Amino acid sequence: MLKVEALNFSYSRGGHRTHAVKSVDLTVRRGEVLGIVGESGCGKSSLARCLVGLVQPESGSIALNAQELGRRWRREQHRAVQMVFQDPRSSLNPRMTVFQQINEGWKTHPEIKPPDARRAAADLLARVGLLPEHLDRRPEALSGGQAQRVSIARALAVSPQLLICDEAVSALDVSVQTQVLSLLAEIRRELNLAIIFISHDLGVVRQISDRVAVMYFGEIVETGETETVFERPSHDYTRQLLSAALDLADEPVAARGR
Ligand SMILES: Nc1ncnc2c1ncn2[C@@H]1O[C@H](COP(=O)(O)OP(=O)(O)OP(=O)(O)O)[C@@H](O)[C@H]1O
Ligand SMILES: [Mg+2]
Repeated sequence: MLKVEALNFSYSRGGHRTHAVKSVDLTVRRGEVLGIVGESGCGKSSLARCLVGLVQPESGSIALNAQELGRRWRREQHRAVQMVFQDPRSSLNPRMTVFQQINEGWKTHPEIKPPDARRAAADLLARVGLLPEHLDRRPEALSGGQAQRVSIARALAVSPQLLICDEAVSALDVSVQTQVLSLLAEIRRELNLAIIFISHDLGVVRQISDRVAVMYFGEIVETGETETVFERPSHDYTRQLLSAALDLADEPVAARGR
């Protein structure tokens, strides 16, 4: 469904250039969850921004359903790829109610606006485990987990084919993380939605992903079935990443950072 080839992206700032995404190739099949892991600063979010059309890659190609996305994406192509960010509070509009935020997507894409928008929005909230009464709340009156559910509902409102979750559960505490992860797994099954799941948390990625791509300094150094990558990593960097995660898990919390 998604095919990315030789993608390059750089930031240029004050004469300084950061090559954040280097010749990245990847594919995502319909209904598949692809995990992307790698240490902080390796380019995961930059790649996500390219895939959702927020920034313009320098070179390479992104094709959705065998249609190349050029410089200007069509409206329905934007609709097909939705993103859920790490911090729901900063990605939601603080001045708008939950209903208004969901309805925004239908204003942009009137061809899919349901006849009874309020009712459809309430159905979406039910799908993500929220109540109709949440429709008239503003983000400040939601917990972090509830706000992230709203972000997911808002993304689903426009019937995407691919959902990109960039550290979407990282800011949530562990029990809420588990709930949101099972919600994503359920949505993916029911809607046959493809998900790119970006996280620095290897345990979470292992839990949800069918395949995993390992990113290192802007490049994808290894891709494979999740269990193969975790059990028999083929790249040195993947081994390092896995053993670092294990060390951290073994170490008593009080000893960390010493
Ligand atoms: N807006 C920006 N302007 C300039 N450089 C940037 C910008 N955003 C990111 N970078 C740089 O691009 C590189 C990749 O950053 P990116 O945010 O994609 O990493 P990441 O893998 O998402 O990290 P994290 O796990 O911390 O979120 C880093 O070197 C970073 O400093
Ligand atoms: Mg990031």
